Amino acid sequence: MANPGLKAYPGTRDFYPDDMDFRNWMAQKQRSVCERFGYREYGAPVLEYLDLYLRKSSEEIVSEQLYIFTDRGERKVAIRPEMTPTLARMVSSRPQQYILPLRWFSIANFMRYERPGRGRLREFYQLNVDLLGSDAISGDVEVLALACDIMKEYGAAPTDYVLRFSDRRLLDHSFSELNGDQLRELGRILDKKEKLNPEDFRKTVDDLGGQWQKKDLVQRVETFYELSLEKADGNPILEYLREIRDRLSEHVSVESFKFDPGIVRGFDYYTGLVFEMNDTDPSNARALFGGGRYDKLLSQFGKETIPAVGFGMGDVTLQDFLEVHNLRPALNEKSSLFLTMFSEDLARDTEKVAARLRSAGIQVELALDGNRKLGKQFDLAEKKGHSHAGVMGPEELANDAIRIKNLKTGEQKDVSVSDLDSSALAGI
Ligand code: HAM
Repeated sequence: MANPGLKAYPGTRDFYPDDMDFRNWMAQKQRSVCERFGYREYGAPVLEYLDLYLRKSSEEIVSEQLYIFTDRGERKVAIRPEMTPTLARMVSSRPQQYILPLRWFSIANFMRYERPGRGRLREFYQLNVDLLGSDAISGDVEVLALACDIMKEYGAAPTDYVLRFSDRRLLDHSFSELNGDQLRELGRILDKKEKLNPEDFRKTVDDLGGQWQKKDLVQRVETFYELSLEKADGNPILEYLREIRDRLSEHVSVESFKFDPGIVRGFDYYTGLVFEMNDTDPSNARALFGGGRYDKLLSQFGKETIPAVGFGMGDVTLQDFLEVHNLRPALNEKSSLFLTMFSEDLARDTEKVAARLRSAGIQVELALDGNRKLGKQFDLAEKKGHSHAGVMGPEELANDAIRIKNLKTGEQKDVSVSDLDSSALAGI
């Protein structure tokens, strides 16, 4: 293998401070929307027993994407590829301690061995939002509305994204003659439809039909794609989805969401509502988030059946989305002070003033070298992106004052150290 030198592992990212500012900004918006809906933040380990994912995640993840290794104590472990099994484990292990329903969210990193490309990496961050302990339709509507509120929080217009939703049970209902394995396989192919060209998709379905001796499978799949909420015809699943659509339209602009029977999702644990959100800009083909209802997953861990619904939203596609729609803000415009050091013999006094200004709420970076010319210190302050620079010579020190220079406008002002706080600084 070639010497990796300074390169990070493929599909992972180093977050230099500017990148980190942006990641924190994205996360802060998510946090504030989740908290507004009454969700509480939780955390969990990056390593889990491999067993947690076997039969409880998706076939593709377990067989192709999981990072698995044996630890020094001979345990088979995996780096988490998603949060849902961990969340199910956490909640099932202490069922009596919580008053249901639970509204929980987390922002954490995950790893999947994927081919890195636009919108897809090997390490990514994901917001997980889950509502556990209720199978009410209001819970489904709430989670979908919350997801759309996050998009609004970033300043996205209703036509910038589309939330497509369906129900896993539609597949079982429409192909009732297929057995469980066949349904899963068909679901997997429908899930990949948009990545295949129409000819290849048709051929794959036709081959399956041949294999299963269901000659009309292609036509049946075409009919499946024609399902519509306007023609529910007594189908209880379509009626349920219509109810979701109608209630959601009270919260979210109707251009932002639509029923799409082709949404099946790759995870075996979904049991009902399933949904994905996409950027309407074709340069971002990968989903911004995906989720659904998983009413039976928790019963695989504990005695209790706790219904649940939620979604995961990744940072990679979100960043692409924000950039394509010009919603990524400039984040270096906050006010901060670079406190120059007039001379080495004033170092201790300058340090003390820096401490006083920090307690007054100002972000202060201290120059460390009093032998450096003041002009050079100002240059450094500007290069580092500070809004203001401060000078304290012997005269200012005697008056407990400080000279502040606005590095953008060049304006200068002498102020008393006691009067200086962050709003006073912003006013100079
Ligand atoms: P998922 O569809 O696998 O669902 O992932 C959700 C989102 O995470 C994707 O839409 C995408 O934004 C991001 N994501 C996933 N894999 C990658 C990757 N390799 N690189 C970059 N971003 C990625 C789940 O993970 C479910 N556990 C979500 C869930 C929570 N369902 C219920 N609750």
